[in-house]
Formats: sequence, structure tokens, C-alpha cells
Amino acid sequence: MTAIYSRILGTGSALPERVLTNADLEKLVDTSDEWIRTRTGIRQRHIAAEGETTGDLAFAAAQRALEAAGVKASELDLIVVGTTTPDLIFPSTACLVQHRLGANGCAAFDVNAACSGFVYALGVADKFIKSGQSKKVLVIGAETLTRMVDWGERETCVLFGDGAGAVVLEASPEPGIYTTCMHADGGYKELLWNPVGVSAGFTDEPNHGVRIRMAGREVFKVAVKTLDSLVEETLRAAGMEASQLDWLIPHQANLRIIEATAKRLNMSMDQVVVTVDQHANTSAGSVPLALDYAVRSGKVLRGQNLLLEAFGGGFTWASALLRY
Ligand code: COA
Repeated sequence: MTAIYSRILGTGSALPERVLTNADLEKLVDTSDEWIRTRTGIRQRHIAAEGETTGDLAFAAAQRALEAAGVKASELDLIVVGTTTPDLIFPSTACLVQHRLGANGCAAFDVNAACSGFVYALGVADKFIKSGQSKKVLVIGAETLTRMVDWGERETCVLFGDGAGAVVLEASPEPGIYTTCMHADGGYKELLWNPVGVSAGFTDEPNHGVRIRMAGREVFKVAVKTLDSLVEETLRAAGMEASQLDWLIPHQANLRIIEATAKRLNMSMDQVVVTVDQHANTSAGSVPLALDYAVRSGKVLRGQNLLLEAFGGGFTWASALLRY
């Protein structure tokens, strides 16, 4: 029996128009462009306009990915959206985007794995394709994370931005996604979380307590260690050596974390797609935004091997090794 792979037919992305620079943030909190750049690599981030939702960004990214793929929305048989900032509690953002695209009838659902959301969604979509259940799948990572940022808290407000990216996958006898890995450890929940919700309840604090809480230094340490073992596990699972990789497309949270992973893989920073300087941490949007940037700027070429990885609240961590 011929193996079935998930091949990326096209990519797309979308960013809000408004840009907030480090200099702008200097006016909001006691911080400096120098501190932000040296600690994180971030220079600016895009911020959703009032009324502009995760679904709006997801829809725009999806339209571009479908166009690049040459696929009509009506051909899709599955839409998976990685997001932790859905437009509504329900219906899912995947359902909202499905209707706007005119793909009514196909399966559509969201995956909440925080910053690993897109890579989780890609892994799920790959299983649907490999099982023969789906032939053409739209996978999106989209967030308006700045809606849960406290603009008075310098430890967190400098780190995040909004944006979305998408890919269209097709079942193919040619690789394709070689392997995906997914992990979580809920024991770390209090290092990076937003501890309110419909069931647990909200608080009397501003924005009903909807606010990211993060122990930055601890998150940093666990992220570096975990990503080291994740990339090694991924190469082992695919039966590949790091020297066979053309590009690392990492989650864009912090340049120092990205550099540590590249070093572990013995890859030069010339082989790493970096957008954290422009986008900051867009959570589930970050990896597909970086991928689309790399494709459209002519960095990533057909036939090249890409390692995608992400780490986020949960903790969750996930990877995909694929031939573009
Ligand atoms: N501007 C200026 N100073 C700031 C600041 C800011 N925006 N934020 C924190 N500081 C201060 C701290 O208060 C601290 O001051 P102190 O030494 O007087 O106590 C000092 O800078 C150093 O803070 P520290 O937390 O040790 O810095 P760091 O080198 O660990 O960098 C992060 C902080 C948040 C950039 C870094 O820990 C990080 O990126 N962590 C991972 C976060 C992440 O990626 N989260 C998402 C994962 S998906």
C-alpha cells in the first residue's frame, strides 16, 4: 500500500495594520528599546484594531493560503484552527471562518494548545489525511493575544502581538509531513496562564481578570530544555540527522530561545527563520506567519526539509518535520 503524506500546497498570513514599536511602549511602561531588544529580540509587534478579531485575521490568512494553493474553499473537507483567543466561546473560530470562506459542510474545529496551537493543529490534520479521512485540509494558527495583555505590566506587555497564518494540505503519495510530535505537561499550568474562564468564573479585576500571568525566567528555562529534547525526538522519529535539515522554523517567542535550539541542532542562524523582531510572540500565529514569510520571500524552496517547533502555556510543545 502506498503511503499517504500531507503536502503543503500553499501558505498565507495576515497581520493587523497597526504597529506598536518598542519606542511606543517606552511611553506606556518603564522599559526601554534596548532592554526589549537584548532580552527578547523584539523590535515591534502588530496590534489588532478595535473590533478586529482572531477570526478576521484567520479568514484573511486562509484566503491567501487557498489562493496560493489554487484550491477552492468548497474543496476543503476539514478546517482546524489553533487558537487560544477565539472570537466567541462558541461556535468555534473554525466554524466562523468556514462559513465566511463558503466551505459549509466540512468538519471544522478549534484546538487550544496556546502557543503550540498551530503545530498541534497541523499534527491533528496530518492524522486525518494519513487515515484517509480527509484529502484537502486548511490549518490555521490565529490569535489576538494582546486582548489579554495588561498594558501596565512591563514583564508581559512587551512580549506579545497579534496575527495569523495558514496552510492548505493535500493528501499526496509524495512527502510531505514525515513526522509530528505532540506533548503536554499540565503540572506547569501556573507558570504561564490566564486563570479565569466560563466555568472557573471571572473576577472583579479590570477586564474581568482576563490577563496573562507568566513567570518569565522559569518559562525560559523549561522552554530551552524541552525544545532541545523535542527536536532530538523529532529527528529520531523521522530517521533523519540534523545535517539533513534546510530550515528551522521555530515558535517566535524569544530570540535567545531560538538561538539555543539552533545551537543544539548545530544549525547556523542563516538556516533559521526569524520574525520575532517584527511580530513578537503571536502565540499560535507565530509558526505559520514565519513559514509564510519564508515561502513568500523565497527563502524556503520546494523539496527542502523544514523543522517546525513550538512551546507554550500548558505547558504544551509540538513539532513537525516535513518536506516542503
Ligand atoms: N523592561 C525593563 N525591565 C524589565 C522588563 C521590561 N519590559 N521586564 C522585566 N524587567 C526587569 C525585571 O523586573 C528584573 O528586574 P530586577 O532584576 O530589578 O528584579 C530584570 O528586568 C530582569 O528580569 P528577568 O526576568 O531576569 O529577565 P530575563 O532575562 O529572564 O528576561 C524575559 C525576561 C521575560 C524576556 C525572559 O525571561 C523570557 O523571554 N522568558 C520566556 C517568556 C516566553 O517566551 N513566554 C512565552 C512562551 S510561549
